[in-house]
Amino acid sequence: MSITAEVIQKDQQYSVPVAARPDFVLARGEGVTVYDADGKAYTDWVAGIAVNALGYGDKELMDVVGNQMGTGLIHVSGLYHTQAMVELAELLCTNSFADKAYFCNSGAEANEGALKFARKLAYVKENPNKTKVVSFTEAFHGRTMGALAITPKEKYQTPFKPMVPGAVVGEFNSVDSAKEVIDGDTVAVIIEPIQGEGGINVATAEFLQALRQLCDEHGATLIFDEIQCGLGRTGELWAHSFAGISPDIMTLAKPLAGGLPIGAILTTDEVAAAMSPGDHGSTFSGGAVVMRAAEVVVNRVLSPGFMEHVKEVGEYLIERLSEINSPHIKDVRGRGLMAGIELDVAPASIVNAGYEHGLLLVSSGSNVIRFVPPLIVEKKHVDELIEKLTLILEGIDAGD
Ligand SMILES: Cc1ncc(COP(=O)(O)O)c(C=O)c1O
Repeated sequence: MSITAEVIQKDQQYSVPVAARPDFVLARGEGVTVYDADGKAYTDWVAGIAVNALGYGDKELMDVVGNQMGTGLIHVSGLYHTQAMVELAELLCTNSFADKAYFCNSGAEANEGALKFARKLAYVKENPNKTKVVSFTEAFHGRTMGALAITPKEKYQTPFKPMVPGAVVGEFNSVDSAKEVIDGDTVAVIIEPIQGEGGINVATAEFLQALRQLCDEHGATLIFDEIQCGLGRTGELWAHSFAGISPDIMTLAKPLAGGLPIGAILTTDEVAAAMSPGDHGSTFSGGAVVMRAAEVVVNRVLSPGFMEHVKEVGEYLIERLSEINSPHIKDVRGRGLMAGIELDVAPASIVNAGYEHGLLLVSSGSNVIRFVPPLIVEKKHVDELIEKLTLILEGIDAGD
């Protein structure tokens, strides 16, 4: 039996079936390319779902992780100080609005923590009944129970109802709707400055500014979920910077540790001061290997020319996608290396055809193909993508 056949058979036999995976087995990666067990190459426009910012096989990342492993300190828990954890906290705080950082293990966990931080702030301000959390249409904040409650998608929520109470949904980019739903009972407002899973929808500067103002008026905590759009993906360090305002909390995860599991909550001194020992925590919080990996990623994103590269290739990507002459493309949108094409055909057919052509693609929302490649992707990869995508879209018309 081939490795591919064996892995697929074992996956069917032993894995909980929460994902429909294609029929090849990834075996290694280099740069922006992954290879399957039969040696076939795929240019990766998914990057582990907006995670592998430095691509595959980054030498510095591998060396730093190896060196930290070599100290023997893989894990000590949050009970003890490590140099690695405070250095990453300092790096993130000195390069953002934040004064304090807390580390966890995933995006959903970061959002869960952010909601607890906001609740605790209201509690210490003697507003314990302030429990309403506002999120927006098409938002995705994760799949744990608290994060799911603020991810207003019927398909994800229905089997798991009742949801955690207090979640209220406003319309994305509608200031009028925000004014209706944010009031004195609102403890937190959470938004992705650019929605990832929801279809690459960019919040307007006016909308983010209005949320800031409404949160200030009503004493609510403003949370920016930059788990997918943050850390250089838009060509700016933080996706919200175009709006000229800051949140009270920002959550990060996906690319932060170059592929190792991590989440982070960045916040102000005011919010952090509401939290006391024992209020929150996680066994794996701030593990030294993961912290060292994240330091490499953040420093690389901050290194001269890196974000200019993201901007340049991102603009080229959107320009070239816009040039594809296909009746099936209804819109091209995004910012930096976070782009999407809206289609009038099921994205799954394009994703599947992509595999045949040696491309990893992923959908977003119900009718969008999203492009969130490693941030080291180059214009020549964009050219390859456009050539293959054009063929794939022509194939749809020919009934292939
Ligand atoms: C914006 C956003 N928030 C939260 C999450 C949840 O992150 P995780 O899958 O690490 O729990 C995701 C994941 O796709 C996301 O895109």
